[in-house]
Amino acid sequence: MSSLNLFGNPLRRWFGGSQRETVPVKELRERDRRRMLKHFLALEKPDRLLRFGSQLPDEQVTKYVNGIDFGRDLVFGVYNRVFKLVAVGHLAFAPKEPSKSGVTDKERVAEFGVSVLKTARGLGIGSKLFERANIACRNNDVDTLYMHCLSSNQTMMHIAKKAGMEIHRDYGEADAYLKLPPADPASVLQEAMQEQLATIDYALKANVRAAAKLLDKLPGHKPDN
Ligand SMILES: CC(C)(COP(=O)(O)OP(=O)(O)OC[C@H]1O[C@@H](n2cnc3c(N)ncnc32)[C@H](O)[C@@H]1OP(=O)(O)O)[C@@H](O)C(=O)NCCC(=O)NCCS
Repeated sequence: MSSLNLFGNPLRRWFGGSQRETVPVKELRERDRRRMLKHFLALEKPDRLLRFGSQLPDEQVTKYVNGIDFGRDLVFGVYNRVFKLVAVGHLAFAPKEPSKSGVTDKERVAEFGVSVLKTARGLGIGSKLFERANIACRNNDVDTLYMHCLSSNQTMMHIAKKAGMEIHRDYGEADAYLKLPPADPASVLQEAMQEQLATIDYALKANVRAAAKLLDKLPGHKPDN
């Protein structure tokens, strides 16, 4: 499947012509929770291990998704052209631990976890979600972003290194952290623009999906698939 088919992104040309298609990263809310659960349950066993650091059973994954606090954390997602949630990034904010007081002067730190469905990998989605998490940290007065993953996770290590993260490996696991500059007008504008465009993209895809469902119910209409 080509990247164009994957997103069917009507906003593509607004951004100019890079090799990779623009990835519309949308902030997810309560209404997306059901689709988030579907996304996590669709991850294959090895990917679930990489994402959560252990082989979480379905009930634990459900508990995790139901426990996400949209008032405290930020969750980002990418929908494909048929309104399937193909990627989720969870940026969890937490008070700075006293042991980490030398790392940052800020009151909070953030930790990022990300997953992209197999069918949507290699298109820059994971990197884009990570980049959005960076900007969101800056705009929320957080200058330290952590990521915890298995050190065998070559792809995530690559993304982390590319972003300039400092990586500490320990017994098969890796803790990576990134120091971020403070917010500036460009970072605020960048996040607002990305969110607005992703919101239009989201509405278009949701409406097309709703219309297709209605069409399928019409007498005599043969669904495409
Ligand atoms: C890690 C993950 C999120 C990456 O998503 P993705 O959308 O495929 O990532 P991207 O397309 O943005 O980038 C992949 C990069 O890794 C590189 N890469 C892919 N496989 C690689 C490997 N085996 N070794 C090193 N680099 C690799 C790609 O070349 C690409 O690099 P580039 O942007 O410099 O060309 C996805 O593989 C995933 O969901 N894995 C399972 C869950 C997980 O591991 N989560 C991370 C822990 S929180």
